[in-house]
Amino acid sequence: MRILSGIQPSGTLHLGNYFGMMRPSIELQDQGEAYYFIANYHSMTSLTDPEQRRRNSLDVALDFLACGLDPKKSVFWKQSDVPEVTELTWLLSTVTPMGLLEKCTSYKDKKSRLANDDLERVNHGLFAYPVLMAADILIFDSNIVPVGKDQKQHVEVTRDIAIKFNHLYGQTFVIPEPRIKEEVAVVPGTDGQKMSKSYGNSIDLFGDEKVIRKKIMGIVMDSRPPEEPKPDAEKNLAVRLLKLVAPAELAGELEQRLRAGGLGYGDLKKGLFEQYWNYLAPARKRRAELAANLDYVHQVLRDGAATARAVATRVLERAKTASGLN
Ligand code: TRP
Repeated sequence: MRILSGIQPSGTLHLGNYFGMMRPSIELQDQGEAYYFIANYHSMTSLTDPEQRRRNSLDVALDFLACGLDPKKSVFWKQSDVPEVTELTWLLSTVTPMGLLEKCTSYKDKKSRLANDDLERVNHGLFAYPVLMAADILIFDSNIVPVGKDQKQHVEVTRDIAIKFNHLYGQTFVIPEPRIKEEVAVVPGTDGQKMSKSYGNSIDLFGDEKVIRKKIMGIVMDSRPPEEPKPDAEKNLAVRLLKLVAPAELAGELEQRLRAGGLGYGDLKKGLFEQYWNYLAPARKRRAELAANLDYVHQVLRDGAATARAVATRVLERAKTASGLN
């Protein structure tokens, strides 16, 4: 079974990314052949700063390796190091009805967000994004594609494209299945909404100590005094975050003390900060070691690209033969 997913290099990752996407994909590396890549071609549809793309791509690589992606188990590479996907994108484009792309909600959302101020940024790449994603998936004969709910439609488009191509040119592509992580609780941000970089409510995975402490201590709570019992303790934002990063016993104990009355919000938040900091300490240490040994990181990505490219070349050849290009 081949498992494939792409990660956009869109900047520093936060706890929401970690619990929603990183940890589940890293766990999957023990259940099949895991293929993970840094989607730097995709990032070109919205990010136009070369240095930032370079830096973000390296950051994502460091983050994943630090958090447990094991290059002995997973194939890990940078999308643009397997340029065959762009060739397959063309082949797939010619069997993709415009209407299929026009109904993609992710495109419609991005378009309407940009429409008022900056229509120029509604580029063709943004529209064709799902076709490139289909090529990513199909060129590796992927069986399972673990993605967030927001990407489910793109995997469905991929299936439609593959079925269409197979129908026109004969059996060529494996039809992939999306694997949506439903059970992942939405990680709340510091304002109680879903944690998201664009809401400014996120807690970075490898953030600066002072900045994160300030962010956590700044979480707004209600005005009930410390001694007042809080029967709704399980709904408290700091308690919910604690349950993610603290040992279950300790999170349970602080929740109990909050419920009973006597634990102030300041102390609760201090506890949350400490647990957050400890939880990520081993990964933070590994990340620092990797950052001091970038040659190794680049070598991992190069090796991953070589392995991925061998598969991609074979599948592309299959598609070229089927369609009469070869
Ligand atoms: N579009 C995905 C996202 O933004 C990233 C991605 C690109 C991807 N290609 C992919 C995910 C192929 C899964 C499979 O999250």
